[in-house]
Amino acid sequence: MGIKVANTDSIAEAGEILKSGGLVGMPTETVYGLAGSALDGEAVARIFEAKGRPSFNPLIIHVPDLSSAAAFVEISDEARAVAHAFWPGPMTLILPRKSGCDVSELASAGLDTLAIRVPSHPVARELLKTCGVPVAAPSANKSGSLSPTTPAHVHDSLGPSVDLILAAGACDVGLESTVLDLSEDVPVILRPGAVTAEQLSDVLGLDVRYASANADVPKSPGMLLKHYAPDLPVRLNAIDLEEGEALLAFGSDRFMAVKGGGPASGLPDDWRRNLSEVRDLHEAAANLFAMLKELDQSGAKGIAIMALPETGIGAAINDRLRRAAQR
Ligand code: TXA
Ligand code: MG
Repeated sequence: MGIKVANTDSIAEAGEILKSGGLVGMPTETVYGLAGSALDGEAVARIFEAKGRPSFNPLIIHVPDLSSAAAFVEISDEARAVAHAFWPGPMTLILPRKSGCDVSELASAGLDTLAIRVPSHPVARELLKTCGVPVAAPSANKSGSLSPTTPAHVHDSLGPSVDLILAAGACDVGLESTVLDLSEDVPVILRPGAVTAEQLSDVLGLDVRYASANADVPKSPGMLLKHYAPDLPVRLNAIDLEEGEALLAFGSDRFMAVKGGGPASGLPDDWRRNLSEVRDLHEAAANLFAMLKELDQSGAKGIAIMALPETGIGAAINDRLRRAAQR
């Protein structure tokens, strides 16, 4: 771990770290981000673990330009207009994921939309161009503490869980980007930021509001978050299978059996997934949403899930599983 002044060499080094699954403290014009490759589920799992957040919120994906964004999300006319007006800059758009989009399901918490932005900070821009992968980056602080606007904040908050911090002084804006949801019929601001409702209204030619039951009051983003939920009923802490259930295992499923039937190993391939045979919670987090989605489409009548430990990132996995089980 270290802090290095951002220059051509340290940015190249940071690019290699991102490509090989490591984490980088990345300066942006808003706040410092905790950056990891959005294509690498285990890197994304490490981001959540470093932040110490006991749940998975979808993360913002950072790309160098609009044409890179178009590889991952559907760009509507509205999105193009907002992008032309405010990218690069402190503006995040929620857009539908493109089919075949290879961004980790964990990065978007299983949602069929993606939050994407093109930052304007020269160091972030150079890093994104150099590394060539889309970068997931929440603010580089422990969950619940203030957003980091200096390299020292990042170091103090996250310390050894970051492989390299690129130091580029204090952030200009000091407040996270505006988040605009363009995935629904009506554009809605999910998080206020430097780009204002008035500016967005001008560009789109309509009255853009904050997402809130009673119009103009900004709400905290957490309250607005949609959660991925499987269609099938989910049963937690399963120690055996009901007839017709698919299995989401963790560790060995050698002793799992279908009630009144044979062992789990006799289930159809499509009905059987293992979050991590070696009980690695990072691997489990990286697989969580993709495997839930696959089992949800298996044609089974329910999903039985083995218990996972509540330690480390296991708490966030269990949080999501409990939500899935509640429906
Ligand atoms: O300024 C910023 O945006 C900073 C810098 C590092 O770029 N990043 C940042 O990321 O603030 P994060 O992960 O702390 O904030 C992500 C926000 C949350 O409010 C989250 O709820 C929302 O974006 N979000 C992400 N994906 C979403 C989705 N698919 N639908 C709705 N909201 C989403
Ligand atoms: Mg944050």
